[in-house]
Amino acid sequence: MSVPSQQSSSSEAVGHQKALTVRDIQDYKTRGERFLMLTAYDYPTAQILDQAGLPLLLVGDSLGNNVLGYPSTVPVTLDDMVHHAAAVCRGARRALVVGDLPFMSYQVSPEDGMRAAGRLLKEAGVTAVKLEGGVRCAGLVARLVDAGIPVMGHIGLTPQSVNLLGYRVQGRQAESVDRLLDDAVALAGAGAFSIVVEAVPAEVGKRITEAVDVPTIGIGAGPHTDGQVLVINDVLGLNAGPHPRFAKAYADLRSVITDAAKSLSAEITSGDYPGPEHTY
Ligand code: KIV
Repeated sequence: MSVPSQQSSSSEAVGHQKALTVRDIQDYKTRGERFLMLTAYDYPTAQILDQAGLPLLLVGDSLGNNVLGYPSTVPVTLDDMVHHAAAVCRGARRALVVGDLPFMSYQVSPEDGMRAAGRLLKEAGVTAVKLEGGVRCAGLVARLVDAGIPVMGHIGLTPQSVNLLGYRVQGRQAESVDRLLDDAVALAGAGAFSIVVEAVPAEVGKRITEAVDVPTIGIGAGPHTDGQVLVINDVLGLNAGPHPRFAKAYADLRSVITDAAKSLSAEITSGDYPGPEHTY
């Protein structure tokens, strides 16, 4: 099944608000204005974050660890991504929605990657896709962009490679910094409209940001990247932990949900719920 793309033209008005385009995201860097991207995996969260004015929502394959109960992003399938990305797109009116290409949907051949990205745009309605890797992905990025598919790169710690590299801070040695700079330049040169930089020292995040003219979006990459991205579960305090060093909770929904469930349970035991006002 095909659905209309979330943002079909730069001038399209959705409700009272214009849907953002990749050009709008690039303009943040031009203006020197920092911005936030959060992950979203479902309709209500997307709607709330969209109405809160976030310019970018990422349907990350962190869906695996945060929603589906997997130990990593590796088991996440393209069908999982399409299903959740479609729900997010239904909730987002203005924010630009990016969908992750999951592990093994683009590593075997560029043709696989093209088809997988096509499904995320045509069936889920995302505006852009994200993939992990730098120089080795530049050919695929160029082909996707050539086909009209905006691409967000992702370098540094790349969770899909956890079985090879672990969850380790990248860019601590000079050669690895050089490789990261090459990766960023290759992605930008291939036409990526932005680049996620994960788990690198702040100075490396700064150097990568200065090396490319597309926005960098850091997660555990220090304060100098053009934007920041965080996982919504971490921001809302939903996950039990352990939490990565860069995670910061702005709410404690785990306690809120626990307290609500316990209060309701207690009222059912006492007979206070349902009351006359809840009864037909
Ligand atoms: O999958 C994801 O949520 C991500 C972000 C952590 C950048 O890739």
